[in-house]
Amino acid sequence: MRNSDVAISIKNLTKYYQAFKALDNVSFRVKRGDFFAFLGPNGAGKTTTINVVTGLSNYQTGQVEVFGYNTVVEYPQSRRLIGLCTQESNFDPFLTIHQLLVYQAGYFGILPHVARRRADELIERFQLLEKRNCKHRALSSGMKKRLLLCRALIHDPEILILDEPTAGCDLELKFLIWDYLAQLNKEGKTIFLTTHYMEEAEKLCKTIGIINHGRIVRIGEKKEVLQDRSLESVFLEVTNPMNGGNHD
Ligand SMILES: Nc1ncnc2c1ncn2[C@@H]1O[C@H](COP(=O)(O)OP(=O)(O)OP(=O)(O)O)[C@@H](O)[C@H]1O
Ligand SMILES: [Mg+2]
Repeated sequence: MRNSDVAISIKNLTKYYQAFKALDNVSFRVKRGDFFAFLGPNGAGKTTTINVVTGLSNYQTGQVEVFGYNTVVEYPQSRRLIGLCTQESNFDPFLTIHQLLVYQAGYFGILPHVARRRADELIERFQLLEKRNCKHRALSSGMKKRLLLCRALIHDPEILILDEPTAGCDLELKFLIWDYLAQLNKEGKTIFLTTHYMEEAEKLCKTIGIINHGRIVRIGEKKEVLQDRSLESVFLEVTNPMNGGNHD
């Protein structure tokens, strides 16, 4: 890796969807080894930022690097270092979950016998053994979340980028994922996570970044950010939505 201290570096990033400015001069860094929670209300720009960092979206101005590799001109090098757990599941419908993982490993040049072993390890780790030879549509939504994690981890990436990995998970699965992420971070992996659960950010992360309307509102150590009362307005925009309703 070219720059071992900075996992993600974003400088003056602006992104438009046609005339709509989704990211407005976004700049921040994620240190290597950090557990970074990226928070913000619906539509704030979290997934768009992730899409830019992982090379899935283009952008108009700025510079984005992953461990020192430019995500556009050095795309293969930067992408290889990232494990991406997307917000929505997007799997090939014709493959079994084991095949899906082996194919994914192939994109990163992992030899088939290594990929098969690693796929089996992850399938076991995330308690999907019973579904090993099923297609993904035969999985429940919590199982699909686990499969997304397996796919993100198949090539042993340096940084895991997780877009709401525990949304819709039951408590047991949430705790399984939390434990696993904490363990990965302890082993030295950098983790970048978006979530709407404050409890999740509070429990797991070291650093918090907050985005709203495409602009960075705050980046700082967890403790400082959580004590900042002025940020409550970002999360409490929808107040009193049922005003006047009859709840008898
Ligand atoms: N492909 C697209 N075309 C046009 N507009 C888009 C597209 N993707 C996202 N947007 C817009 O960009 C803004 C940021 O969306 P984004 O998905 O990044 O939000 P988010 O912070 O991930 O929200 P959520 O918490 O709901 O997942 C929103 O206003 C959204 O409607
Ligand atoms: Mg999103």
